[in-house]
This record gives sequence, C-alpha cells and structure tokens, in this order.
Amino acid sequence: MGVVKANNVSVAFGAVKVIENLNLDIKEGEFVVLLGSSGCGKSTLLNCIAGLQEIADGEIWIGDDNVTWAEPKDRGVGMVFQSYALYPRMTVRENLSFGLRMAKMPKAEIEKRVARAVSILQIEKLLDRRPAELSGGQRQRVAIGRALVRDVDVFLFDEPLSNLDAKLRTELRVEIKKLHQQLGSTMIYVTHDQIEAMTLADRIAVMNKGIIQQFAAPKQVYTRPANRFVAGFVGSPSMNFIKATVSDAGQDAKTADGRSISLKGYEGGDRLAAGKQIEIGIRPEQWIIDGQSASGQALDAQVTVVENTGAESLIWAKVGDETVSVKVADDTGYHEGQKLRLSFNPAFVSVFDTSSGERV
Ligand SMILES: Nc1ncnc2c1ncn2[C@@H]1O[C@H](COP(=O)(O)OP(=O)(O)O)[C@@H](O)[C@H]1O
Ligand SMILES: [Mg+2]
Repeated sequence: MGVVKANNVSVAFGAVKVIENLNLDIKEGEFVVLLGSSGCGKSTLLNCIAGLQEIADGEIWIGDDNVTWAEPKDRGVGMVFQSYALYPRMTVRENLSFGLRMAKMPKAEIEKRVARAVSILQIEKLLDRRPAELSGGQRQRVAIGRALVRDVDVFLFDEPLSNLDAKLRTELRVEIKKLHQQLGSTMIYVTHDQIEAMTLADRIAVMNKGIIQQFAAPKQVYTRPANRFVAGFVGSPSMNFIKATVSDAGQDAKTADGRSISLKGYEGGDRLAAGKQIEIGIRPEQWIIDGQSASGQALDAQVTVVENTGAESLIWAKVGDETVSVKVADDTGYHEGQKLRLSFNPAFVSVFDTSSGERV
C-alpha cells in the first residue's frame, strides 16, 4: 500500500527547528512534488519518510504501518538522489543487483527483477559499463533502476534531475512521468524547479521555512494561490502585485496614488470589506492591453523594456511607481516610452490581505 502520512512531524538540528508540526497526507498512487527554494526543508522531510532522518516528534505512516522507528530498508521505499550515488567500480548490472545480493535474495529472483528494470528504463545496452562510461542521464536512469528492482510501493526522488543539462532534464522528466503512469506507484519528488513541479505533480506541496503553504493540484496552485508567498513563488516571471485599499465593499479599490480599480466579479468579493488593505495579484498573461476590463476601468502604464523571449515576449511597464510585466504573443508594435492602458478581468485574478498575506 502506497499511502504516506506525516502526522505532526517536527525535526530539529540542535536548537534549530527545521520542521514543526507538519502534516502531509499522500494518497496511494499519487505523484506529489515538494516544491520550495533551497533550505526550506524539502530533503529533510523526504529523509524523514525514507528513514534517513530521525524525527523529534510526530509519526510517519506508510500503508498500514507506523514506520516512525523502522529502518530505511524496512519501509518499502526506494530513493533516488541528485548525486546518483552509484558504485564506481561496479558495472551497471552489478549496481542494479547489489542491494538484492546483500539482502541474500535468490539469484533467479534478482535476475528477474534486474531484467524488468532494465526493460522499463531501456538500458539493455549499458549493462556491462561502469558509471564513468555513462552520461549523466544514463547514470540517473541506473539510479532509478536501483530503486525499481527493490519492487517498492513508494518512490522518493530528491532533485534527481538537477545535475543534468536542460535538454536531458526535459527528456528524463517525461520518462519519470511515463514511469509513474506505467507503475502507478506513489511517488514523492523534491525539486526547486517549478516547471518540474507543474508538469509532474498530481498535487504540489509548496514549502517555505519548513511549513507547507499550500497542498493542491498544480492548476489550483497557479490560479488560486492560497497566500502571497505561493503567489509570488510560483510562476515566471512572478505574478504582479498592485497595492490598494478597498473603497467600495466587494466592488472597487483605490491604489496609493488614487487610481481606481474595479474588483467587481472577484470570486471572494463578499470578503472585500471597505477599508481593507489588499494586494491584487495579476499574472503577466492576464493583462488586457488597451482593452477594457469587465468594468470599463484601466490603468495607465508606460513601457520601459520590451523583451523578446522567442515564442512570446515580455513587456515591462510602469504603473504609477510599480513595474509590472505583461506577457504578449507578439511584441511587434511595442516600444520603450509607449503609453498603454492595462486592465484585467477581476474574475481571474487573486487578492491578498496585506496584513495576513492570505488569499481573500
Ligand atoms: N544535518 C544537518 N545539520 C544541521 N542543519 C541541517 C542539517 N541538514 C539540513 N539542515 C538545515 O535544515 C534546513 C533544511 O535543509 P534541507 O531539508 O536540506 O533543505 P532543502 O532540501 O529544501 O534545500 C536548512 O536550513 C539546512 O541548513
Ligand atoms: Mg534538498
């Protein structure tokens, strides 16, 4: 059974609490990505599940078992690290079978399992090579194979693609996705890369400072970020934030320099009380240029930079004192100094309470 649960887990290194009272409930067969910047506690949490990190408080459950104090090898998990961790003097075949040989598994069973892993990962041709004779992508494939032969219910990946160049990273990412579709096993995957998180995950746990900020499907995280942190962290370039004060409950807001913005139609409109300090979050692709929002209001903006990024372009513009980014399919016709009118549909944007940072 591939259900994984962390109940009120706390981890401390000396006096420093890295994770406090963390709860995470992962369904059987689910692909969960732990996403967050370096040092936020992703590996620590993954290691707690793997049994490589002792927890100060709380419980870890895998399937029907409380594994809080179980040895890593008894937890039914297979782990893949960023550093591959292959034995340099062994061939691929020996690397794959090593753990099973140590566990004194019958030879025929070892051969069967290695053959299955080799066929799933299509590494037949590499069996007699040593790690030094493999590319980074091939090494990581072997490392995944080493987890595969253990025939586990739960796979744990810690930034497995971070050492690879961009092209290989994309290729292997697709392979990991296929692997999940094929095996249907529970997978928990740590990364700081949003694209990996968005493309691989059934659900993303966005972490900051040891706390899960939001645990939801990628689309939900992107379109309805739970708070200001998630809104700013997920998406590139970042969501634009316009500070304002609600002037007419559920309807209108005013920016610091007195510009009026309509929020009519915002899904949380009934929670927009007059006087509330807010930040309106607008994705770069959500701006309507020179158009009219549903309400007929628009913000005056002036173009500062036009960036062509290939498939699409970014226009950076000043709205009052704030710089915003605007994504456009075609940058023809835009130039520095140009005046634009920007609007948005309030039904699609996010609004955050300035004091709590929570989504309104
Ligand atoms: N063995 C350790 N001793 C002391 N501090 C540690 C140890 N391992 C991790 N940390 C600290 O715990 C925090 C979380 O680390 P980690 O889980 O590795 O972050 P991430 O994987 O998200 O980059 C960091 O501040 C890190 O410095
Ligand atoms: Mg890490």
